Amino acid sequence: MKPLSNTVEQFKESIFSTMTKMAIENKAINLSQGFPDFDGPKWVIDLASKAMNENKNQYAPSMGILPLREAIAHNYKRFYDFTVNPLSEVVVTTGATEAIFCTCMGILNPGDEVIVLEPFYDSYLASIQLAGAKVVPVTLKAPNFNFDIEELKAAVTSKTKLLIVNNPHNPTGKVFTAEEIEVIGNLARENDFYILSDEVYEFLTFGVDHKPTATYGDLANRTITISSTGKTFGLTGWKIGWAIGPAHIIKAIHNVHQFSTFAVSQPFQWAMAEALVKMDEYLVEFKADYLRKRNLLISGLKECGFNVSNPQGTYFAMAFLPEGENDVDYCKKLIVEKKVATIPTSAFYIKSDEGTKMIRFCFAKKDETLEAALANLK
Ligand SMILES: Cc1ncc(COP(=O)(O)O)c(C=O)c1O
Repeated sequence: MKPLSNTVEQFKESIFSTMTKMAIENKAINLSQGFPDFDGPKWVIDLASKAMNENKNQYAPSMGILPLREAIAHNYKRFYDFTVNPLSEVVVTTGATEAIFCTCMGILNPGDEVIVLEPFYDSYLASIQLAGAKVVPVTLKAPNFNFDIEELKAAVTSKTKLLIVNNPHNPTGKVFTAEEIEVIGNLARENDFYILSDEVYEFLTFGVDHKPTATYGDLANRTITISSTGKTFGLTGWKIGWAIGPAHIIKAIHNVHQFSTFAVSQPFQWAMAEALVKMDEYLVEFKADYLRKRNLLISGLKECGFNVSNPQGTYFAMAFLPEGENDVDYCKKLIVEKKVATIPTSAFYIKSDEGTKMIRFCFAKKDETLEAALANLK
C-alpha cells in the first residue's frame, strides 16, 4: 500500500499519554498531565445543563455564538483595557489547541520559519510541521529560563513569519517580563513577523500580573492572542478556546476552522458566555486555591530534598535533578518506586539537552492528592 503522510509519520505518542498510561499501570499518583483531578465550579456546569435543556444543541455559528464573543471581548476590555471587536476580531475554537493549529495553517506557507521558545507545548511543533513550515528553536536557559537576546536575534531570518510565545509558560512557570516582551516585539516590528501569544494560563499567576502581548504598543497589529477556559475554570474537557487578532488574520484562521471543525459545542459556549462575565468572585477563590496548592507542593518537595523552582505562573513546577540523573529514567523510577508520576522535560525540547536535567510536577490536584504524593516521595 502507498505510504501515509510523511509529516504525520514522524509524530510520536505524546509524552502525556505515555506517562499517564504508566501511572495507571503502576497505580501511581498522577502529577504528570496538566489537568485538575477535581471538577470545575458547579454553577458553571449548571449553566451548561440549562443550555442543553433550552434546546441549544444544534450547530453553533462557525465564528462562535455572539454572546460568547461579546463576553470574551468584554473581558479583554475590563481585565486588560484592550479593545476587541466581537464581530470581526474573535473566533471561538475547540480549545486553544485548535486555535494554535488554525493560526499556523492560516498564516504559514511551506518554507516559512517559525521561532519557538523551548521548552514548548508539543502541539506547536505538529501544527507548524503540518503547515509545511520550519521550526527554529531558541532555548530558554535554566534556572531562570531567560532567552539570550543575541541568540534570539540570530534566529531571525528573512523567512521568519511567526514567533510563538507562551506566557505564563508551560512547563517552566515563567512569566515573561515587560522587557522580554519588548525585545520580542521590537524584533517582530523590525523584521515584520507575526506573534502567536498562547495565554491559556492568563489567570494563573502568583504575585505578578499578566499582560497580554497584544497590549504592548502597536503589537496588536501583528499578534494573535490565544486563550481558553479549560485552565481558568478547571473544565479542560469542555475545550472552549479562542483566537483574537486583527480582522484579516481572524478571517484566515476562521477559514481553517470552518473546514476542520466548522463550529464548537453550542451548550458549552452558552455556559461560558454567562460564566466569563460573572467570574470576578470565582477568580479570588481560584487564585487563593492555586497559591495554596503551589506552596503545599513546593514546600513539600523541598522537604523531600528536591531542588524545585518557584513558579510565578501556571500550575506546574520544575525540579532540577541531581548531577548524573536523566529525566526519563528518573520519572520511571519515581513511578515504579515512589508511585508518583511526573513528566520528563526533555519531551519539551528539540535543540538543547537541558530538559534531561529536569522533571515537571503538576499541582492542579486536590490537596489530599498532593499530600499523598509528598508522603510517597519522603
Ligand atoms: C501552553 C498550552 N497551550 C495550550 C494548551 C491547550 O489548551 P486547550 O485545552 O484549551 O486546547 C495547553 C494545555 O495543556 C497548554 O499547556
